Amino acid sequence: MGHRLSKQNEEHQFARKGSLKPANESKHMDCINCNYFEPLDDEELHRLQAQHFLLRLIRGNFNAPLKKTLSLGNTKVLDVGSGTWILDMATDYPQSSFTGLDMLALFPTQIRPVNVSFIQQNVLKGLTTCDNTFDFIHERFLSGSFSTSQWEKIVIPELTRVLKHEGWIELVESDAMLENVGRAGKRLCDGLIQVFQKRNMDGMIAKRLPSMLESTQMYSEISKVETEVPLGEWAGDIGLLALKDMTAFFSAVKHQMVEEMQISLSEFDGLLAEFTREVEEFKTVRRIHCICAKKSFVK
Ligand SMILES: C[S@@+](CC[C@H](N)C(=O)[O-])C[C@H]1O[C@@H](n2cnc3c(N)ncnc32)[C@H](O)[C@@H]1O
Repeated sequence: MGHRLSKQNEEHQFARKGSLKPANESKHMDCINCNYFEPLDDEELHRLQAQHFLLRLIRGNFNAPLKKTLSLGNTKVLDVGSGTWILDMATDYPQSSFTGLDMLALFPTQIRPVNVSFIQQNVLKGLTTCDNTFDFIHERFLSGSFSTSQWEKIVIPELTRVLKHEGWIELVESDAMLENVGRAGKRLCDGLIQVFQKRNMDGMIAKRLPSMLESTQMYSEISKVETEVPLGEWAGDIGLLALKDMTAFFSAVKHQMVEEMQISLSEFDGLLAEFTREVEEFKTVRRIHCICAKKSFVK
């Protein structure tokens, strides 16, 4: 599986040290209204890639009832805010066609499955894709990309527009508030939630997504599956990998977090170290929600 990014794409990256914008925004991306606050440097991209394989192990690649359809072929799939998922899926289902969409040109240009293509577009500007194009639309971990009102007024309507009648949408989001946390975990999660709130984003957006889909009046069979990802050695190798991923994520956004929490970088590092110890005592988990729905109605 190829990496999404190589050093030659450095100019497209977000700077890690607290910058909320990519290094050369106007030249390389269409950033109208975008608030995406995670740094997209090599370290973060490697974390996302490792996280993908960990999640595949824990919950598989998708929940929509499409295994047979994808295997038969001629199924058109769109992944929004794209990453390793699309490369993995394209390899698993060689008869179907896959499109990754991202506002940044992070996708591999040379080594990739033949049935994958990429489009560089900002969802918030509206997609250039025609109505009723895709059989399956998947998105994962975009809670740090859109405000609640952008989800409601732009993202969900736009994805619904480009989804075919009888097609499936799958939205996968993680809760920013971890469960079974100790003192340090609670402070870190509260800080993260403040980072979201400052940008009018909801770190717990998953709870709103089913009603957003419902309010379009275009979907039936709306369902939600939740997965608990255990953090820490108490849950064996998977727990250790998941904890490593979680601490890497906190580290990636630490400049935004210290600003909101009004603490120093060394205090933050102390909290993170305490967090990695206390997950063992409290058996901390991260909750991931997968919302699926079928586009069944026309307006
Ligand atoms: C946290 S990453 C998740 C990547 C992938 N879905 C995964 O699960 O590993 C979010 C991705 O969404 C992209 N993104 C953020 N805002 C976007 C927008 N307005 N339009 C298109 N892509 C966007 C970012 O460039 C980044 O690649």
